[in-house]
Amino acid sequence: MSKQNESTPSSITVPVLRAMKDRGERITMITAYDAMTAKLVERGGADIVLVGDSLGMVVQGKSSTLEVTVDEMIYHGQMVARGLKHVHLVLDMPFMSYQVGVSQAVHNAGRLIKEGRAHAVKLEGGAEYQELIARLVRIGIPVMGHLGLTPQSIHTMGGFKVQGTSTDSANDILHHAQALESAGAYALVLEGIPQELSQMITQALSIPTIGIGAGRECDGQVLVVQDLLGMDMDFKPKFVKAYESLGERIPRAIQKYRDEVRAGIFPGDEHSYFAKTPLFRPGDSAGSERASAALEGERELHKA
Ligand code: KIV
Repeated sequence: MSKQNESTPSSITVPVLRAMKDRGERITMITAYDAMTAKLVERGGADIVLVGDSLGMVVQGKSSTLEVTVDEMIYHGQMVARGLKHVHLVLDMPFMSYQVGVSQAVHNAGRLIKEGRAHAVKLEGGAEYQELIARLVRIGIPVMGHLGLTPQSIHTMGGFKVQGTSTDSANDILHHAQALESAGAYALVLEGIPQELSQMITQALSIPTIGIGAGRECDGQVLVVQDLLGMDMDFKPKFVKAYESLGERIPRAIQKYRDEVRAGIFPGDEHSYFAKTPLFRPGDSAGSERASAALEGERELHKA
């Protein structure tokens, strides 16, 4: 596993992402929550890895993101950073880590950067966070905004529902998007809104928009990695495209393993170690010498 040092800068930086928008190059963001997956996501060519607070649902099996803590974000951020070499790493600010006040929010964002190895933080909400965002940006913490279907407001929205479907609510989201840009946000996630609205926002802003369930007119797209790999056979919302069907393939592989264990087929000779000398038998006075020789043989095998 390659290691990302705390001080390793990303080669996909905030200015690079802005330039991608200017050149019309679409940005790909994918979530990851552990080192192995992060390594695979980077190898697949993603521009941004997001440690989303979706980990509360995807990894912890909870019904919302509300219980995720700053410490949990840091724990997963560290794991993901160890799997990455150069990809831009964003960590979500979890619920109630930035709502209480600017100074607590600055403290928590700082922890996500210093301890969680993030290059930037993402937070849900609009104009009400202008002061906070401006402060974070001034002290060198890039902020990605998140508007539309904001899962931390599940109780206000009455569930995971598409937002901005009326003229008033669409205008409201557009104004919040402009407020985030003027506060200094460097990118904006648009989740669960009509394509017509995300197109309008994308054209109105100079910072990149990254959509999920927001149509194809955004400057980039984000998906939860388990969704794009088709791992959960019971979760198939309209906005997800599964590029694999691991939810079927993984159980098939596990079944095959179980069947081979039961039938005594696995492990075969090719997966087994063999002693180079006759092994120790109880009561055999020369046994311990031969046992050490066999152990030595085993060590050599591990080196090979
Ligand atoms: O938490 C998350 O994974 C997210 C993305 C779905 C945008 O916020």
